[in-house]
Amino acid sequence: MRGDALVALLLVAGALGSYYLYSPIPDAIEQRWKLLVTDCFFRSLSHLADLSELLGVMDYMGVMMFITKLEAVVPVSDERVQVEEEVFDGVQVMVYQPRHRGNDGDLRRAVIYLHGGGWCLGSSRMEPYDRLSRRMVEELNAVVVSVEYRLAPKHHFPVPFQDVYRGVKYFLQSSVLASYAVDSQRIAVSGDSAGGNLAAAVAQQLQQDPGQLVQLKAQALLYPVLQALDLNTPSYQQNENMPILPRRLMVRFWSEYLTGNKSLFGAMLSNSHNSPESAGLLKFVNWSALLPESFRGSYGYSAPLTETRGGGGALDTLTDPRASPLLVPDAALQPLPKTYVLTCEYDVLRDDGAMYAARLRGAGVDVTHRHYPSGFHGALMFVVWPTDFDIAHRMTEDYVQWLEHNL
Ligand SMILES: *[C@@H]1O[C@H](CO)[C@@H](O)[C@H](O)[C@H]1NC(C)=O
Ligand SMILES: *[C@@H]1O[C@H](CO)[C@@H](O)[C@H](O)[C@H]1NC(C)=O
Repeated sequence: MRGDALVALLLVAGALGSYYLYSPIPDAIEQRWKLLVTDCFFRSLSHLADLSELLGVMDYMGVMMFITKLEAVVPVSDERVQVEEEVFDGVQVMVYQPRHRGNDGDLRRAVIYLHGGGWCLGSSRMEPYDRLSRRMVEELNAVVVSVEYRLAPKHHFPVPFQDVYRGVKYFLQSSVLASYAVDSQRIAVSGDSAGGNLAAAVAQQLQQDPGQLVQLKAQALLYPVLQALDLNTPSYQQNENMPILPRRLMVRFWSEYLTGNKSLFGAMLSNSHNSPESAGLLKFVNWSALLPESFRGSYGYSAPLTETRGGGGALDTLTDPRASPLLVPDAALQPLPKTYVLTCEYDVLRDDGAMYAARLRGAGVDVTHRHYPSGFHGALMFVVWPTDFDIAHRMTEDYVQWLEHNL
């Protein structure tokens, strides 16, 4: 751990001394200086990853995994929270539950949590996720199941989704719920970023699963990724170079999730990855119709090209609702449970979340959309000193409160 910290320090120091000092951090962002330093670290690591891949030392995501390792913890039980590593139908999960079961027969709520990291990075064993799970256990008296799904690029879509879905289906069996004293009427799925993508996809697929008896009471999507069709929404354009998740990195995550074909990355960067088959889906991501004026800003709408066929072998997958849950008709949205959507102004994914909130509301779903005008992507992760941000604590508080009142 000490070696890792030293490397981190060197990276930050090196970055600070270089051109990174000029960074487009908007005035509206709080604790700007801290975000600038944090971003220097991320950018430096990304450059190092590019270099390493170029030299054939290690692939890009292999180097980026350093972030996950830096924050790795071994989740352990304490006097209030009991933590166990389990295997649900072949899928690794961490189960957090209240140490004391309360009165005999009292059932608890449950939150199934899916971590973020662009389907390529992250782990439920990172300190921010471990803390969030413990907090939910304590404040909600809930059982938290944090799924350790397999990651891209080693495992492309649909493997990460399938891992999650298998684990969820296993947990939702009456006998398993009973063994954890969970009330089958009070279960939520939730996740941040790519985890929000998986959570939204899980909620949809459960509704369409004919044999599925137990359904979810709520879904809580924290700055989720929801579609791969239009990577030029106003938020993608406005936040192209924003800290933590610049557009290039998000596009990279998408392409690595969907395929090993490197040419998809370039096609997605120029938003020319669609095919004629995507044309019928454009209406589901038409931000000109789905976003409020304050989000559209002065950006003029032009539909993504669909004649270009730049997606190569990934044509089917990028519009698969399990990868792009926004690309479904209203009929698939109607049966969805009560929903919480968190979006941040300074986030390429802002419009994905905002469009999903608008479409769900239009379909009659009870939606709470919390938009943070000074928020940036990934903020919820920044709760650990020295990269702790006030906004992370406010977001966490509001999210947990929503679960308290709606789950
Ligand atoms: C998108 O919405 C706008 C405004 O509502 C409409 O004029 C346009 O035809 C739509 N385009 C597509 C591709 O759905
Ligand atoms: C990769 O995608 C391109 C089109 O974007 C296609 O021409 C090429 O055949 C694909 N390569 C493989 C190995 O599938």
